[in-house]
Amino acid sequence: MGIGRSVAFALAVASMAALAGCGEGPSAPPDAEAASRNLQPADPALAAIYQRSCASCHTVAATGAPLTGDEGAWSPRMDKGMDTLLDSVVNGFGGMPPFGLCMDCDAAQFEALILFMASGEPNGA
Ligand code: HEC
Repeated sequence: MGIGRSVAFALAVASMAALAGCGEGPSAPPDAEAASRNLQPADPALAAIYQRSCASCHTVAATGAPLTGDEGAWSPRMDKGMDTLLDSVVNGFGGMPPFGLCMDCDAAQFEALILFMASGEPNGA
């Protein structure tokens, strides 16, 4: 009986350690969050939209959004293709509300914002 308990205890400790390790995964290191807050599109009109609509989530790791400039988080998204990503923004996707909170944005603006966020480059390159 004593042995069974200590095995259970060891398993509990091991699984807690595994969970703790999870929080430090490569998807959202604290540096990526700080770095994302220093980035914005070069175009002033696009920067204004980005600041009021997208940045509130895409610079905050706790929202679950891929962070601006975090190429590791964006590359599997970009692999879906731009048409799919535009659909995700327009219709909403997971924790993201429809239109990413920019109701008057058009597809070209969404595409420019996506290219900027995925690359972290002010010109979306
Ligand atoms: C209220 C928070 C919020 C706002 C505002 C927001 N997003 Fe998101 N976005 C998210 C979250 C959360 C995800 C990840 C959803 C998931 O994978 O379940 C996401 C994912 C995405 C994706 C990837 C979709 C996919 O199919 O993988 C794109 C593209 C995107 N956002 C673009 C934008 C753009 C452009 C804006 C601004 C116009 C914006 N988002 C505003 C929360 C937000």
